[in-house]
Amino acid sequence: MTALTTQLSAHIGAVFKKHNLPEELGAVRVSDRPDLAQFQCNGAMAAAKIAGKAPRAIAEDIVADLSQDSMFSEVSIAGPGFINIKLTEGALSDHIIALNQDDHFLVDNSGKGQDIVVDYGGPNTAKPMHVGHLRASIIGESVKRVLNFIGYDAKGDIHLGDWGTHMGMVLSEFEIRHPEWPYFDKSKTGDFPKEPPITIEDLETLYPQASQASKSDEARMEISRQVTAELQKKQPGYYALWQHCFNVSVEAMKKNFAALDVYFELWLGESNAQDYIPDMVNKLQKDGCAIEDDGAIVIPVKQDDDKKEYPPLILYKRDGSVMYGTTDLATLVQRMQDFNPVKVIYVVDQRQGLHFEQVFRAARLSKIVPETTELTHAGFGTMNGQDGKPFKTRAGGVMKLEDLIQMGIDKATQRLDEANIGQDYSDEERADIAHKVAIAAIKFADLQNNRSADYIFDLDRLTSFEGKTGPYLLYQAVRIKSLLKKAADQDLKPAQLNKLALGEHETNLALILADFPNVVDLAARNYTPHVLADYAFKLAQSFSSFYSHCPILSGAEAEAQQSRLFLCALTLRILEQTLELLGIPTPERM
Ligand code: ARG
Repeated sequence: MTALTTQLSAHIGAVFKKHNLPEELGAVRVSDRPDLAQFQCNGAMAAAKIAGKAPRAIAEDIVADLSQDSMFSEVSIAGPGFINIKLTEGALSDHIIALNQDDHFLVDNSGKGQDIVVDYGGPNTAKPMHVGHLRASIIGESVKRVLNFIGYDAKGDIHLGDWGTHMGMVLSEFEIRHPEWPYFDKSKTGDFPKEPPITIEDLETLYPQASQASKSDEARMEISRQVTAELQKKQPGYYALWQHCFNVSVEAMKKNFAALDVYFELWLGESNAQDYIPDMVNKLQKDGCAIEDDGAIVIPVKQDDDKKEYPPLILYKRDGSVMYGTTDLATLVQRMQDFNPVKVIYVVDQRQGLHFEQVFRAARLSKIVPETTELTHAGFGTMNGQDGKPFKTRAGGVMKLEDLIQMGIDKATQRLDEANIGQDYSDEERADIAHKVAIAAIKFADLQNNRSADYIFDLDRLTSFEGKTGPYLLYQAVRIKSLLKKAADQDLKPAQLNKLALGEHETNLALILADFPNVVDLAARNYTPHVLADYAFKLAQSFSSFYSHCPILSGAEAEAQQSRLFLCALTLRILEQTLELLGIPTPERM
C-alpha cells in the first residue's frame, strides 16, 4: 500500500497510457478546491500539446474510462480540462483502514537505511548559547527526525565551535588574570589538574570581556591569535585548560538541549577535525588543488560563470592557524571516512551561505566528497523581536537560551492558571505540563515559518491556546486523549472495523489523514518542517470541526459512533506523530 495520491496517480496514469499518452500525466493531487472535488488531475493540458488535440477532448476520453470505475463516485471536467475526482465512501474507507494498520502511515521507506549526517545546533564552547542557535537546533532536530522516519539513518552532529580565535581569546584572558596557573607554565611536564578551575558562570562573564579586550586593542588581539595557533598545535598547557572549558560548556549545553528535546548522536566539534588537517592539506597541495598565496595556503574556488566574488577557501593562515573553512572541509574528510553518507545537510544561518558554497566547491574540486553525496546548506532566517531587529533581552543584551526557555515556562504556567488547567494535579505534573506547553510554544513558533524567512518572536501570542500555536495543538491532542479515555470507561473501545461510515465531516477529516504521507515526503525532500507544522494545524482544525458537528459519546448511532471513535484514535496517532517529527512532546492530560 502507498499514499492515496500515489495509488490514484498510478490508476489514472494507466488510463493515460491506454490512450497512448505519457503515464506521468495521470498525476493526481489533493484538490485546491475541496468544495468542488477531493482530488484533481491536470494532465490533460500537457497531453493536449503532445497529442495535438483540445485538452477538453482528452479529458473527456479519460473521464469516460474513469466513470466505469467503481472506486469513484464522481469524475467530472472543470474549465478547459481539469479532471475532478471524488472517491466512493467504500474506497475511502478501505484506504483509511489500511492507513490505520500501517505503523508508518503508508510513508515510503525511501531512505533504505542509507546514512545521512545532519549538522545542526553548532553552539560555540565558552560562549553562552544564545537564541541564534535556537533555530539551528529546532529546525535541525526536526529535519533529522523526518529523514529517519522515511528510512534513512540520519545522525545529528552538533559540530561545536571549539577551535577558533574565540578560544584563544578566552585562554589568553585566563593567562593574563591567573599567570600562576599550572596551565601557563611552559616548562611543566606531566599531568594537569583533573578538576576544572572554572565554572560555566566564569566562562559566561569572561568571554565577552576577553572579546572586547581583543577587539579594542590590536596588540591584545595578536596575543589571542598566538594562543589560538598554540592551541591548534595542542600545546599541552593550553590544551589541558581548553579541555576544561570544553567539558564545562558541553555539560551546560546538554542541559539546555535536553530541556528543548533536542538530541545529538555525535558530539563532535571543529577540534575533532584537527587530526585530519595536516594530511588533507598535504594531499591537496600535491594534487595542485591547494596553492600558496602570500604565505597562506588556499584553494581557489571561483568559477568562470560566477556573478559574484568567490574568495578562495583559506586552509592555513600565514601564522599557521586554521580557519572555519579548514575545519569544515576536514570534517567532510572524517564524515566520508566514518559514514560515507549519501547526504550531508547543514542547518545553519543563511548568512553563512558564501562560506558553505566555498566549502562545497572545495570539497568537489578536491574530490573529498563524490558527486553521489549530496551537500546542502539548509539555511534559515533570523528570529527577530517585536521591533523587527534580532531578538534581545529587555536590556538589549544577548538573550541566553536557558533564559528564553524559563520565560516560556513562566508564561505557560500563567496561561495554565488563567485557563484553570490542572489545578488538582500534583506540582510535578503541573511543572511537566508547563514545560511541554513552553516547548511547544517556542518550537512551533519557529517551525511554522518557512525556514528561510525571518520571523518575529512574540511570546504572548505563541503561548496562547488559540490560533496557530503549539499549545493549541497540544490542547487538541489532549482533548482526543481524554475523549478516548471516557469512551473506554464506557466500554466503547474502537473496534476492528471493516468499513467506516463516512458522512461529510468524517470524509473531510479522513482526506486530511490520508494526506499525511505526502506531507512527510515534501518536508523530507526540501528540508522544510513548516509543511508539517501547517499540516498539524490543518488536522487539528479539521478535527475540531468534525468534533463539533458529530456527536460521539452520546447521541450517535452505533455504526457512526464506532467510525467516529476510529477516526478520533487515528487522528490522535497522526497528530502525535506529526508533533513528534517536529520535536514537540505531548502531555498525557492538561
Ligand atoms: N559554530 C558556528 C556558529 O556559531 C555554527 C556551526 C555550523 N556548522 C558548520 N559545520 N559550520 O556560527
